[in-house]
Amino acid sequence: MAMSNLVEITVNVNGEDRRVEVDHRWTLLRVLRDSLGLTGAKRGCDRGECGACTVLLDGNPVYACSMLALQVGARAVRTIESLGVVGDLNPLQTAFLAEDGGQCGYCTPGFVMSATALLKANVNPSEDEIKEALVGNLCRCNAYGRIIESVKRAASDR
Ligand code: FES
Ligand code: FES
Repeated sequence: MAMSNLVEITVNVNGEDRRVEVDHRWTLLRVLRDSLGLTGAKRGCDRGECGACTVLLDGNPVYACSMLALQVGARAVRTIESLGVVGDLNPLQTAFLAEDGGQCGYCTPGFVMSATALLKANVNPSEDEIKEALVGNLCRCNAYGRIIESVKRAASDR
């Protein structure tokens, strides 16, 4: 009989405790997307280089592809699904739309999550501070100028 490597853990995601069975090798990204159906965090490089998978862990941006689900422990995970939904977007998401902050949009959830952490810590960031906060996020469409304008707009609209 095949032995199961799955263990049941509880992960706090977007304010809810979720029971989920995980293999010890599974990343947080895999569990969010494939076990919990939260596909907002994107699988880009899957090796800690692009930031498309960025989520917040106790408020700090992390690459969900580069940490194991078992490493999360009691920390709170927040994904882009917690910010707003179609028809009821939050101010940062609205600013990305208004400023055309995405082209293909694959990188956008990661940028939005990194910018969420920035704006929580700094309500009026300078352009250099925005660039520094987003340094771990890559955009293959090279929409950086529009992305920075989006974050500036969200800050000034507050
Ligand atoms: S998918 Fe995680 S850093 Fe690229
Ligand atoms: S908008 Fe396409 S990767 Fe950034």
